[in-house]
Amino acid sequence: MDISQEQQQDFGVLLKQGAEGRVFVSTFVGRKCVIKERFSKKYRHPLLDSKLTLKRLNAEARCMTKARRLGVPTPVLYAVDPLQHTLTFEYVDGLCVKDILLGFGSNGINEERLNDIATQIGNAVGKLHDGGLVHGDLTTSNMMIKNSTNQLVLIDFGLSFTSTIPEDKAVDLYVLERALISMHSSCGDVMEKILAAYRKASRQWCATTNKLAQVRQRGRKRTMVG
Ligand SMILES: Nc1ncnc2c1ncn2[C@@H]1O[C@H](COP(=O)(O)OP(=O)(O)OP(=O)(O)O)[C@@H](O)[C@H]1O
Ligand SMILES: [Mg+2]
Repeated sequence: MDISQEQQQDFGVLLKQGAEGRVFVSTFVGRKCVIKERFSKKYRHPLLDSKLTLKRLNAEARCMTKARRLGVPTPVLYAVDPLQHTLTFEYVDGLCVKDILLGFGSNGINEERLNDIATQIGNAVGKLHDGGLVHGDLTTSNMMIKNSTNQLVLIDFGLSFTSTIPEDKAVDLYVLERALISMHSSCGDVMEKILAAYRKASRQWCATTNKLAQVRQRGRKRTMVG
């Protein structure tokens, strides 16, 4: 990405500007870090707004830490700033899975690497679900591969929540499946490879994949009607 001088903001170098917030690259006690800032909503009452933003900030921090405890690689959380509405994380030096998969078949990855990534995704999501955590935004932009170790790192726990309900986990998988179909169909059936690893990592895989079949059917009906 071309990061120009004008994009230099108070928190560091702007990496991503979204509707909900901004992401910067900066340093924290001498270490390269990422600072995620949540915007306040001007149309909300300031007190309510501050409370809601803080709640979401804390939820993201908690879910990310919980994922790490479950053995799912995530960036290390360095700090939570409730006044500036920021989270500071370890900077992951690597590419997001989306960019890696988009290079499949051309200059990019081979079958072996694809299998490795799919297995790591299935394993990570299986562990997450087994521990009662739903990611809430499983897309290939929210997964990174560390350059140094080729290890998968899950990021962006902004929509995560705790749940043991198979339906919630199935919807999590369905979101991922739709993202793979719409963005990465040239990679073949990556979801099948992911699910093979998921079954090994999650003890409740059977209930979840049964639900997934129902969620898919509902999705299909909606497409036919709408
Ligand atoms: N720890 C990190 N190390 C390196 N890059 C990161 C890190 N965290 C985020 N990024 C980069 O910044 C982008 C945006 O981050 P993230 O997905 O957390 O925010 P977002 O999509 O704006 O969040 P939300 O969906 O919660 O509003 C990622 O796709 C990734 O490219
Ligand atoms: Mg994201």
